[in-house]
Amino acid sequence: MQTLLTPASIAGAAYLVAALLFILSLAGLSRHESAKAGVGYGIAGMAIALVATVWAVVVEAWGSASLGIGLTLLVVAVLVGGSIGLWRARVVAMTGMPELIALLHSFVGLAAVLVGWNGALEENSLSGALRDIHHAEVFIGVFIGAVTFTGSIVAFLKLSARMKSAPLMLPGKNVLNLGALVLFVALTVWYVITPALWLLIVVTILALLLGWHLVASIGGGDMPVVISMLNSYSGWAAAAAGFLLNNDLLIVTGALVGSSGAYLSYIMCTAMNRSFLSVIAGGFGIAAPRAAGDDEEGEIRELDAEGAAALLRDASSVVITPGYGMAVAQAQYPVAELTAKLRERGVPVRFGIHPVAGRLPGHMNVLLAEAKVPYDIALEMDEINDDLAETGVVLVIGANDTVNPAAAEDPGSPIAGMPVLRVWEAENVIVFKRSMAAGYAGVQNPLFFRDNAHMLFGDAKQRVEDILRVL
Ligand code: TAP
Repeated sequence: MQTLLTPASIAGAAYLVAALLFILSLAGLSRHESAKAGVGYGIAGMAIALVATVWAVVVEAWGSASLGIGLTLLVVAVLVGGSIGLWRARVVAMTGMPELIALLHSFVGLAAVLVGWNGALEENSLSGALRDIHHAEVFIGVFIGAVTFTGSIVAFLKLSARMKSAPLMLPGKNVLNLGALVLFVALTVWYVITPALWLLIVVTILALLLGWHLVASIGGGDMPVVISMLNSYSGWAAAAAGFLLNNDLLIVTGALVGSSGAYLSYIMCTAMNRSFLSVIAGGFGIAAPRAAGDDEEGEIRELDAEGAAALLRDASSVVITPGYGMAVAQAQYPVAELTAKLRERGVPVRFGIHPVAGRLPGHMNVLLAEAKVPYDIALEMDEINDDLAETGVVLVIGANDTVNPAAAEDPGSPIAGMPVLRVWEAENVIVFKRSMAAGYAGVQNPLFFRDNAHMLFGDAKQRVEDILRVL
């Protein structure tokens, strides 16, 4: 009797368990309270997947002459890759996470290109429709992988400020993008009919250029959507590699990452009042922004720690709207202390969290959770916006674009239409920042010149500590 327990079937069962753990992981990550468990499920799923894959390969190749070399290469690759990954993850600052993620996405893209090329160069005995499908898989996998690769590198360069965040506005950029897509479809058909290697070279170059151009054309304000979109692309690139390697788990995992990334991009576009199609089409329909800060001037009112403490002491209520600067300054701990102190004195304090505050989804929530700020006073933008007009003092701690009235009031602004926290409606606004510099989108902020706004210049952590001392 033939046994059902072959290495492939056992690995298949392990893959099923891993896939379920990945789904549980995604579900867990969707809520603060279960996020830690979600990470645990993800690690367990990945460990099972890794062990099952290596085990199945070893058992299949047992006794063959090349097993020793193959296994050595595998162990060396896992040790080198694992050590670099562990080191980077341990030393990366929270503010450096988005660029690290962008770089990791680029590796997935590169891996998909290499797997695709390997699929094209490797001998195979396929014929008929299966052979055509294989060629289409190779071509599509290389295309998605190469777009992901260069797109993620541009995102990495932009997020780490090695490249300017303003959109690249080549003349006829939309025609270029559309032309590249049409050419890709035509080349795919051609390659399936006549799989010549030069066609694969052409599509690789085309996709590398397209990925570069798509992300370079997107302005700073839309980068959050780009990151989650590249996350989605990296998932589809992995799924394409899964088809080529005949690996079910890679297909399932790639599809999970691809679809959840696409959904996240959609949610972010809705939250920022952006067209999903416009962003994935490299800023289609977005006009060139005006130069930053050219027409906004006026008087500002400066405040010191004593002045801020006096306003806070008398405030009927306080709302804190943190942004990227709070992360840079690592001000979340004194901010949490200030919150506790004010609450002890009977001043109600809440937080207003903008969906794209900081540099990665949920950035502010993570920082506040780190500093043990109670979850129930950290509200989403939509939950708090209507209360801002009745708020005594709003503390804008290192936030800029996310509280910019130009988004709501100036249709010509590059961030026009993006929902923002309407902090300017409060009785008093205290803005913590180091200079009059613009935020990530490179747009000047008229809030700073409003009559009820007070600028408290300096490092946010030091300034909050100064206020704590006075209080
Ligand atoms: P930003 O608009 O980037 O403003 C940050 C502010 O923090 C700046 O005005 C800066 O002014 C100030 N700052 C920096 N270091 C500081 C320090 N040590 N102490 C005090 N202030 C400091 O931040 P935001 O309001 O959080 O908006 C986020 C922006 O990033 C949006 O444009 C968003 O689209 C983009 N973005 C978001 C994401 C995600 S997923 N959240 C990803 C990529 C990009 P000074 O230099 O004058 O101090």
